[in-house]
Amino acid sequence: MDQITLKNLIKAFAKNFSLLITENMLYPPQHPNVIAQTKQALTAAEVAFEVFEEIYLDIREGQFVFEGIPLYELKQIVLKTTQLLESKEIRCVRFAKNFTAQELSVFIGLIADKSRALQADSIQKELGKNNIFSISIEKKPSLTADEGKGNFLPADKIYGSSIEANKLIFNTLLKENTIPMDIVDKVAEDITSLITLDRASSLALSSLRDYDEYTFTHSTNVAILSVTLASNILNDAETLTQLARAALLHDIGKTRVPPEVLHKPGKLNDEEWQLMRNHSILGVKILEQQEEVNELAVLIACQHHMKYDMSGYPAMETSRGLHPLSLIVNICDVYDAVTSKRPYKKPFPPDKALSIMMRLIGCDFEPRLFKIFTQMIGIYPPGTLVRLNTQELAITRKVQTQALLLPEVKIISKETGSLLDEPIIINLADEQQNSSKRSIETILDPTEAKIDIISYI
Ligand SMILES: [Fe+2]
Ligand SMILES: [Fe+2]
Repeated sequence: MDQITLKNLIKAFAKNFSLLITENMLYPPQHPNVIAQTKQALTAAEVAFEVFEEIYLDIREGQFVFEGIPLYELKQIVLKTTQLLESKEIRCVRFAKNFTAQELSVFIGLIADKSRALQADSIQKELGKNNIFSISIEKKPSLTADEGKGNFLPADKIYGSSIEANKLIFNTLLKENTIPMDIVDKVAEDITSLITLDRASSLALSSLRDYDEYTFTHSTNVAILSVTLASNILNDAETLTQLARAALLHDIGKTRVPPEVLHKPGKLNDEEWQLMRNHSILGVKILEQQEEVNELAVLIACQHHMKYDMSGYPAMETSRGLHPLSLIVNICDVYDAVTSKRPYKKPFPPDKALSIMMRLIGCDFEPRLFKIFTQMIGIYPPGTLVRLNTQELAITRKVQTQALLLPEVKIISKETGSLLDEPIIINLADEQQNSSKRSIETILDPTEAKIDIISYI
């Protein structure tokens, strides 16, 4: 079962658990709303227990968190519950497979009891007194001044968080006409910090293609690629974070494109194409309607389909040319679209994508930036699954600027194809001095080869 499905099971339970607490705050235990919501929560738990031995809901900064990834999409629905749990110093709630409706009802009663306002320690004691051991809580550790700082999420968690955040951003905008800028800012900061600390891992993440959710992965990938490309020419963290924020929002106008056009599996007709092209201007309008207008985001939403030679759309006269950061997003946007799988096209491998894009240097793309982009991505960007001439499978790790065909790789299988328990890292450029002379034979599609790239990053 893939990560998204697993996460959805936990999400369904977290949502119903949260609604159950809300109902208990409003109505007595025998009220039909409470009874109906208890059933919903138990059903969601049953479904999750088909896969999980235990359900645990971590709570951090007003969010439920699954395996380190905040479930941003639930934010609005669960905020009151998570705030209530946090006010009681509860950091995690665990449910073992055999918990009963009666136990759940006692537990919820303890949480929702306004008259006693019990804290974590007292709730845990009460659970013990009632012989309830299949539902338990963990208490928030009290942090010293320095401990809260520098808690840095690993690369895959940041990627997952960003995708969750993108869903929340799109859904909130559709429902409430506002963009939750606090979430955009958090993700933008995480992406920028990750790139500053571990460029190879972040680039590898942007090559992940096993999520079906193009709309959400695309914005994340464009932000990662754009910030990495920009970090080659400037090292001002604030500007890089602003760029990440703007890149995350570059396609926000697509929320106003009719879904049947946005997700049409075939080619668009002229009228549909016009609606699609309109997303740049729609994005500008959405961003300008926000309480705090982010000028760089407005500019990039407007210019991201305008080309270096000022062709593209929307057609606009400007004597100054495009903003340099728009030129960066333009390259990364096209690269991610070309290398992604869509209902109407296969993904191009990175080398093919670059060779197609290379023909457009000077028209679509600014030459100097494109050259830096090529050196950054290499022929085999980090995170690419390849077969070596020895028939071993490997995942590329680092581009060697002086030897683009010979990156550093992690060998993950033997010649026979059986996976290694301990992958081996080698630099293919060094291998040329050895007798083995390993080199890359071909790029493989990880989905077809059934290799989970993220577990090797
Ligand atoms: Fe776009
Ligand atoms: Fe885009």
